[in-house]
Amino acid sequence: MKCITMKTFLIILFCFFITTIFITIFLTDSYHKSIIKQEINEIEENLPKEEFLENDSVLDEKNYQMILNEKYQEKKILALTFDDGPSKYTYDLIDALNKRNIQVTFFVLGESVEKYPEALEFAIDSGNEIGIHSYKHKLFTKLTPKEIKEQITKTKDLIYQVGQITPNLIRVPYGSFNKTVSQELEAEGLTSILWDVDTLDWKFQHKTKTYTYALKKIKGNDIILMHDSFKPSVEAAISLVDQLSSDGYIFVTISTLLELRQTH
Ligand code: NI
Repeated sequence: MKCITMKTFLIILFCFFITTIFITIFLTDSYHKSIIKQEINEIEENLPKEEFLENDSVLDEKNYQMILNEKYQEKKILALTFDDGPSKYTYDLIDALNKRNIQVTFFVLGESVEKYPEALEFAIDSGNEIGIHSYKHKLFTKLTPKEIKEQITKTKDLIYQVGQITPNLIRVPYGSFNKTVSQELEAEGLTSILWDVDTLDWKFQHKTKTYTYALKKIKGNDIILMHDSFKPSVEAAISLVDQLSSDGYIFVTISTLLELRQTH
């Protein structure tokens, strides 16, 4: 009896010992796991939220839209447009615009694209908008429907060859219209764009005269007509951009201005 009791006691002791070891191991493991979990939580809390990172560009876009709407209401939006290019002066213009993070709209001539395809490529790569002017700066009102179509499609094809883009905007030479011209533009799916302010840069061919005249005429939310085919025009444009930017204006492409006009 004594012996059995001793044996039982030893078994119980052994069981107790084993159980204690297992409980200790289990508790230690749980403790470690909870510490690790806590550390992971802390690290995750300190990390920038992935969700936030993903939405960063969306937030930027929303902010930009907000700024555009505010500026439009304040009449502080301008769309600079340049006709008759590209030319050898287009590079300097785009360089200056890129430094200021400004995009404009170019209404190009097919024959100029043939001469300066790299300038057009530079314009496109820098995020500027491209529209059609015509192939050879013909007065559309004096052309047959077939000739108008030719002026458009030749230019369209040249632009596509350079930048794989198909413009949907056109500024007809001299802004001259009749019913035939309108019908042809519609058939080609083109939106006609004219201007609010003619800077008369083509007439002055003088930096300061163009600059001074344009500053007097610009009122806000305007489409401004200039030409990147003249050196003084490009120089005047850069000075205008600097002055108008410091006056609180921001510059957008025609498409952006059209969107703003439609939503206000
Ligand atoms: Ni022109």
